[in-house]
Amino acid sequence: MSGKTRAAVLEQSGGHTAPYARSTPMRFTELDLDPPGAGEVLVRIEAAGLCHSDLSVVNGDRVRPMPMALGHEGTGIVEALGDGVTGLAPGDRVVLVFLPSCGQCKACLSGEGYLCDVGAAANGKGELLGGGFRLHECGHDVHHHLGVSAFSNRVVVDQRSTVKVDRDIPPQIAAVFGCAVLTGVGAVTNSAKVAPGESVIVFGLGGVGLSALMGAIGSGAATVIGVDLAAGKLDKARELGAIAVSPEGLADAIAEHLPAGGADVVIETVGNAKVLGQAYRAGRRGSRIVTVGLPPPDQNLDIPALSLVAEGKTLIGSYMGSSIPARDIPRYIGMWRAGHLPVEQLISSTHVLEDLNDMLDAMSNGEAIRQIIVF
Ligand SMILES: NC(=O)c1ccc[n+]([C@@H]2O[C@H](COP(=O)([O-])OP(=O)(O)OC[C@H]3O[C@@H](n4cnc5c(N)ncnc54)[C@H](O)[C@@H]3O)[C@@H](O)[C@H]2O)c1
Ligand SMILES: [Zn+2]
Ligand SMILES: [Zn+2]
Repeated sequence: MSGKTRAAVLEQSGGHTAPYARSTPMRFTELDLDPPGAGEVLVRIEAAGLCHSDLSVVNGDRVRPMPMALGHEGTGIVEALGDGVTGLAPGDRVVLVFLPSCGQCKACLSGEGYLCDVGAAANGKGELLGGGFRLHECGHDVHHHLGVSAFSNRVVVDQRSTVKVDRDIPPQIAAVFGCAVLTGVGAVTNSAKVAPGESVIVFGLGGVGLSALMGAIGSGAATVIGVDLAAGKLDKARELGAIAVSPEGLADAIAEHLPAGGADVVIETVGNAKVLGQAYRAGRRGSRIVTVGLPPPDQNLDIPALSLVAEGKTLIGSYMGSSIPARDIPRYIGMWRAGHLPVEQLISSTHVLEDLNDMLDAMSNGEAIRQIIVF
């Protein structure tokens, strides 16, 4: 038996002029929703956050197959199970994750599910991990965003796109564990493996960057410096206990606080190759530079090749925080419960689905951190 869902659908990647409140790239419509197939679950979405990766699909920085039901950071309640689903029951709360891992490819077998070839191929095609589409409009298929499509009141997802979490967590908080926290804190704990007492610079203080900043403080980093263009983001970083400066102020902050001439770890969460170059230069000799941002595919990184060797730097790409979501989401929730990861600080506003075009503007101009749609 198929059902219905109300979803935010994008018809075209790129070609929309800002402000989006006027060009209205997102359309709100009722879609047909297939029942969950084998290994799949039907989830009633409670809350979903807007991430820059959604904006990148809208503005064409990251072109995806269209039409697509957007959204990839969310949480909800399991309503029904397809055949063969184990470990979940109706009524469970799940956090959705934006790269399902097949469990069988070389990456998965090596414990690197965040590089799963099968999951990445399905995401690239806008299909679920099991192949094909569960969303349709007037008989036409609608693509899934990263196997999730969380800007919908009900979704069908692969079981491997879910992590079960406790029901006492407020939904708007649970939602951001799916992308911002998993990515930002994972960049610190898994990709950089920040040790207590180290120094960390974070470029970009949106949902992902502030998560990295909190993760660094929560991991015992001795000096944490946040860098952003937006004054409100710098204020937030200071509230969280970091030093915060504009890109122009960074050299002075390094001179004052980092005797080695740069940080032990630098984390870039802007999505701009030029900023990644600045991040690379902000690391001390022997530093680890972790890149998390997703720049448009035609941008190249310009760094002195010699410096990698002569300065012994390590450049690390970090997708989904190099995370194993079923291991790491409960860990980060534990850090949140213990007061080491004040995730509520990421939530700048809550919304209804129809606010999405305005929300794209607030993200685009750097005003908002995480804007959460509550269903
Ligand atoms: N690697 C992954 O798995 C993964 C997951 C989620 C998001 N992302 C990417 O990470 C990036 C950040 O996502 P987000 O949702 O936090 O975005 P966001 O828009 O909320 O935050 C980006 C921040 O960068 C700041 N910024 C812009 N230009 C800057 C500059 N020149 N110098 C310093 N700061 C600057 C903005 O003011 C903003 O605060 C995006 O590129 C997104 O696509 C990657
Ligand atoms: Zn995201
Ligand atoms: Zn795999």
